Amino acid sequence: PTRSIILGTGACLPRKVLTNFDLEKMVDTSDEWITTRTGIRQRRIAGDDEPNSRLATEAARRALDMAGVHPRELDLVIVGTMTPDTPMPTTACLVQHALGAKNAGAFDLGAACSGFLYGLSVADKFIRDNRRLKVLVIGSEVLSRRTNWQDRNTCVLFGDGAGAAVLTGTREDRGILSTHLHADGSLGDLLTIRGLGTAHPVTPELLEKGWQYIEMQGSEVFKHAVRSLEGVAWEALEANGWRGDDVDLLVAHQANVRILDFLRDRLGLSRDQVFINIDKYGNTSAASIPIALDEANRAGRLAPGTRVLILAFGGGFTWGAAALKW
Ligand code: ACO
Repeated sequence: PTRSIILGTGACLPRKVLTNFDLEKMVDTSDEWITTRTGIRQRRIAGDDEPNSRLATEAARRALDMAGVHPRELDLVIVGTMTPDTPMPTTACLVQHALGAKNAGAFDLGAACSGFLYGLSVADKFIRDNRRLKVLVIGSEVLSRRTNWQDRNTCVLFGDGAGAAVLTGTREDRGILSTHLHADGSLGDLLTIRGLGTAHPVTPELLEKGWQYIEMQGSEVFKHAVRSLEGVAWEALEANGWRGDDVDLLVAHQANVRILDFLRDRLGLSRDQVFINIDKYGNTSAASIPIALDEANRAGRLAPGTRVLILAFGGGFTWGAAALKW
């Protein structure tokens, strides 16, 4: 059978670093609170010259370089994002143009923090159908523009960045083994940007209420996140006949280090089997998994044969898993 393999990964983080100590000067919070409750020490914030599409394009260039794939060889560009430069054209089309990927179709995929994982699953289906295809999957966000910098419940959590992966097909016994997608729209209100779709006209009153910003019921989201992530982790393990400790590296969405600790405990993994970089970047939504994959890859933690479990959770709610053999 044909499987999809990741030929190359890349990431791009904005220049500006915002530390917990910087945040202490902006809202009523402390480095101690943020570090112990979330594991975050700093995050990156995009400047005016670093729109989503630019971060995404740079991450893509690095992934293409590693893969040894020319942009004109790409058949499809998928960008998981909820913070596109513009609703139209999509960020995927901006990236397609910037790269000169003349032969590729391109679309944005909306699944909040699960966007990259959903994109990976879509790419996998295309490639299983035609193993010669080359697909670029990106997760890219500029959440800082949708963050209320006066709300300490949310502004300490998020950061900006982009990550990318280039995939193609193989007949070897490796690559993406299975993907598992879930959603529960009944819980959408717990994590939302209420005001920037077409449901409401953007009026001064709407902006006054802060409906252009991310709103989150943090502790409710936390409860659902741990339950859903553990559930889908076991689903992916069972689908492949793996036990918890068959996983060599867990690459999960970086939303809170306590969520990662919980998963490590439940799956029976050791500390070095769980990838963590939330301390440096905060929660970068759809970008967090591809940034983590790229860092793990460049650090030599993804040798051929490494069994990787990817787990994602985000607004919607959406969540999912991918099991792969690197
Ligand atoms: N600094 C100091 N105190 C704070 C801060 C802060 N930055 N933020 C909240 N607090 C206070 C609260 O006001 C509250 O005070 P009170 O008890 O006097 O009311 C207290 O700290 C505890 O607040 P909780 O929200 O209960 O704290 P909790 O331990 O749940 O941590 C957090 C909050 C970090 C947000 C956590 O709930 C979390 O990580 N939730 C899940 C996030 C997540 O997984 N999101 C999914 C993906 S995100 C996406 O899709 C974009």
